Amino acid sequence: MKAVILVGGEGMRLRPLTCSIPKSMVPIVNRPFLEHMIDYLKEHAIDDIILALWYLPHSIQSYFGDGSSFGVKLTYVVESSPLGTAGAVKNVEQHLDETFFVFNGDIFTDIDLTQMMRLHRQRGAKVSIALTPVEDPTIYGVVETDSGGRVKRFIEKPRREEAPSNMINSGAYIIEPEVLSHVPPGLNFTFERELFPLLLERGDPVYSYPSDAYWIDIGTPEKYLQLHHDLLAGRVKKTFPGERAGEGIWVEEGCDIHPQAKLEGPTIIGRNCLIGPGVRVMGPSVIGQGCHIGRDSLIQGAILWHNTRLGQGVALKNCVVAESVSIGDRSQVMEGCVLGNNVVLGCDERLAQGARVWPEESHPLP
Ligand code: GTP
Repeated sequence: MKAVILVGGEGMRLRPLTCSIPKSMVPIVNRPFLEHMIDYLKEHAIDDIILALWYLPHSIQSYFGDGSSFGVKLTYVVESSPLGTAGAVKNVEQHLDETFFVFNGDIFTDIDLTQMMRLHRQRGAKVSIALTPVEDPTIYGVVETDSGGRVKRFIEKPRREEAPSNMINSGAYIIEPEVLSHVPPGLNFTFERELFPLLLERGDPVYSYPSDAYWIDIGTPEKYLQLHHDLLAGRVKKTFPGERAGEGIWVEEGCDIHPQAKLEGPTIIGRNCLIGPGVRVMGPSVIGQGCHIGRDSLIQGAILWHNTRLGQGVALKNCVVAESVSIGDRSQVMEGCVLGNNVVLGCDERLAQGARVWPEESHPLP
């Protein structure tokens, strides 16, 4: 089966993590987000995938190639200007000759796509939209349906009292190719605000597929951290690479962990890491490959990308530290901080809660 994945967005809300890579390449437990998504699609026999790209397409193309190493066929189509969600699918129309799935390239979910397709066919739908419940529907697109699941109305970011339910558009669709005849070519056009409301006006059969399976979009650093915490806590079914080195602890090959370091699960440590004496890693934490953690440092609920260096006595708490960051002795990075690639933090620095540090920045300034 075929799917289009929309991976062209700039991912502004996830900055500084998306300053030099697209959202779909940010690592989730040490592998690009998109690799997890491809695994999930394969489980549902979706192995012919068209990637609609715009922002920083080369990093995706060079990592995944033709897809054969990942067990799928990948086709890349790069937009010359961002076409919006429906415009991007229109732009790959020449590859779509059968019923196909579409996914926002930033959702992590367990929705049963096989069952969703079965229902789509049974109902003779032109479009099926997977719905997911959320606590706060006011920042999403809410979908109102009748008792048979047929969509009646879309309400973008409703006020709480106006929201008919907490079921939102999850960014996963099944679409019949003829629907694309209503999308103007070469123009920015969205599913949510333009195409789907137009189909309702026409009276076309648009159905919902409500699901309470796991679902999150990694649009913001808070949700990025949340996904890691959920994965590590086992709220989503997932296996981790590496050897089990204790309750909830997975360590990949080539690591040198000092016997006086203390690891508490759930924690994942990538290849070739060096962990000094007196270090304490408390889950849920992920340490990317090639990281060096200096003696007596504390890592608590933090996500580290590859090749980061921590001096001695460093403390990281519930934060995200991107690739090749260097943090000097005794510095502290507090809750919700996000450090971009190649940030350099000197000794005895303290980053207050929620600080964002842009790639290549140094603190203090040289
Ligand atoms: P923000 O800038 O933080 O809002 O993120 P975003 O640019 O990714 O936008 P949003 O989260 O609304 O996009 C949802 C999905 O659609 C993401 O997977 C985007 O990559 C994708 N997307 C959004 N706009 C475009 C576009 O113009 N072209 C393509 N190909 N994909 C897009």
